[in-house]
Amino acid sequence: MAIREIITLGHPTLRQKARKVTRFGPELKQLIDDMVETMRVAPGVGLAAPQVNIPERIIVLELPADEEEGLPAELYTYVNPEIVKVSRETEAGEEGCLSIPGYLGEVDRHVEILVRGQDAYGKPQRIKAYDYLARIFQHEIDHLDGVLFIDKADPATIRKLTAEEAATATGEAAEAAALMDRSETPAQQ
Ligand code: NI
Repeated sequence: MAIREIITLGHPTLRQKARKVTRFGPELKQLIDDMVETMRVAPGVGLAAPQVNIPERIIVLELPADEEEGLPAELYTYVNPEIVKVSRETEAGEEGCLSIPGYLGEVDRHVEILVRGQDAYGKPQRIKAYDYLARIFQHEIDHLDGVLFIDKADPATIRKLTAEEAATATGEAAEAAALMDRSETPAQQ
């Protein structure tokens, strides 16, 4: 596995619409493994292929382990993910992004979504995601369409991480989702 470089705001790939993946197999699996490693090292809770300068529809997400509740980390990897159903209910929550380090903003997201996609070998998979996980999926799938959280955040809520938050933030930088259940400090996507 290899750690890939994460590109940041201003790089044109972040604003492209990513291509659908049509070739599956070990090479794609290798890329996905690299993305997982890159996300973990960042550290972040999500990463989309355009963030490592690959304009293809691939995302990886990992909910951190919850030691208090005794829950292990949960990893999800989706190729060609599509949101096929959303709850009417939305919720505002703070997010950050590994490609926009150091900034947070509040974004409204659907509380519950149904996602369909494929794995590295083209096998169909689906998930009903709620709350924080649903938020990360929506953030990562937006990346595939060249959309960043700052496009959707209420401008009045966009702020810089405090020094203390920056010291403890976990990735997509603070994909700040952080602020929710599983973590007391912002996590980056
Ligand atoms: Ni992001």
